[in-house]
Order: sequence, then structure tokens, then C-alpha cells
Amino acid sequence: MTIRAYNKSETDLAGIMALLEELRGSKEAERFSFYLQDSNTYKTSYLTTKGFYRLVALVDGKVAGFIIGEHYLNDTVNLVMLYVGKDYRKQGIAFELKKVLTHLAQAWGYKKIVSQVRMNNLESIKLNLKSGWHQEIDKVYPDYYYWFSKELTDGTGFSPE
Ligand SMILES: CC(C)(COP(=O)(O)OP(=O)(O)OC[C@H]1O[C@@H](n2cnc3c(N)ncnc32)[C@H](O)[C@@H]1OP(=O)(O)O)[C@@H](O)C(=O)NCCC(=O)NCCS
Repeated sequence: MTIRAYNKSETDLAGIMALLEELRGSKEAERFSFYLQDSNTYKTSYLTTKGFYRLVALVDGKVAGFIIGEHYLNDTVNLVMLYVGKDYRKQGIAFELKKVLTHLAQAWGYKKIVSQVRMNNLESIKLNLKSGWHQEIDKVYPDYYYWFSKELTDGTGFSPE
């Protein structure tokens, strides 16, 4: 498995579009708001505009999963989306995607990375706990998301251009 930045090539775009198509056809779609499943939102925003950090995981040259973080606050990255294709699960891909994004955020000077997870998304909750994220049990938003966060201890502050 290789993890690298999303490179805006046709292959990367088609790979992510195929994973979104898989998501939309699955029961897991219930976990996500409409805009997180909508290809157009990715084409016009998450995959093209500044302020989003995108990584893909490749297996045999195919996009097996992806992760997108956003510049959220001056010192914080928010995890927007993480998806691993059904044929590629339970191989540690999501764990690695999270680890690499976390290390990059730290290297860029962010002090914190956060994510919101549906309370019934047990895989994701376990993944976050395994990745050393802290569950902020007093923060449930709006009433069906858990907040998770991880402090990035070596952050030196960050100012977006
Ligand atoms: C959640 C998801 C990203 C996990 O991807 P993955 O590559 O299969 O996960 P990994 O192989 O890296 O698993 C790492 C850890 O996550 C947890 N985990 C992953 N899948 C799990 C499952 N089906 N049941 C229980 N725990 C699970 C485990 O703690 C696992 O560690 P372990 O293998 O030592 O038990 C994937 O199932 C997915 O894309 N789901 C749909 C989209 C989604 O819910 N995204 C997250 C939104 S916040």
C-alpha cells in the first residue's frame, strides 16, 4: 500500500468518484450528510480548493481509500471524510491514512486534529481510539455525533496564506 497526496489526475479523480459511488449504493450512506456523498461537492470544493488536505491510499495502482482534512481553525485540522473501499478493508489502510494526515498536520504546525463520528459508527469509534484520539464525551453534536480530537504536541502555530 502506498499513501500519497491526491494529485488531481484523471486516475485519482476516477478512483475517488468510484468509491463515492460505492458509498452511495450502500447502507453506510446513512452515516453521511448529503454533501459528503455528492461527487460534485468533491469536484468543485474538497478536491480542488485551497484549505483542504487530501491523501489517497493506493493498492496495486488503484485508489483503495482516501482521507480529506480541512483547515478548520488557525491551529486545528478537521477531518472531513475518510473512506476505504469495501474490498480493501481490515488491512490497516484507514489507520495509515489517519496517521499520515496527523503527522502532516503536525509538521505544518497545527496543534490539534478533530473529527466527528456518528454514535453508531462503531468501526470508526474503534479506529479513533486505536489511533490514540481522545473522545470528548461532553461534546455530542448535534445529538448524534461524538467528537474526537488529538493534540499535536510539537505544533508551532500556523497562519494560512
Ligand atoms: C471505518 C473505515 C474507514 C475503516 O477502514 P479500514 O481500512 O478497514 O480500517 P483499518 O483496517 O485501518 O482498521 C483499524 C482499526 O479500526 C477498527 N476497525 C476497522 N474496521 C472495523 C470493523 N469492521 N469492526 C470493528 N472495528 C473496526 C479496529 O480497531 C481496527 O484495528 P484492528 O484491525 O487492530 O482491530 C471503513 O470501514 C470505512 O470506510 N467505513 C465507511 C466510511 C466511514 O464510516 N468512514 C469514517 C467516517 S468518520
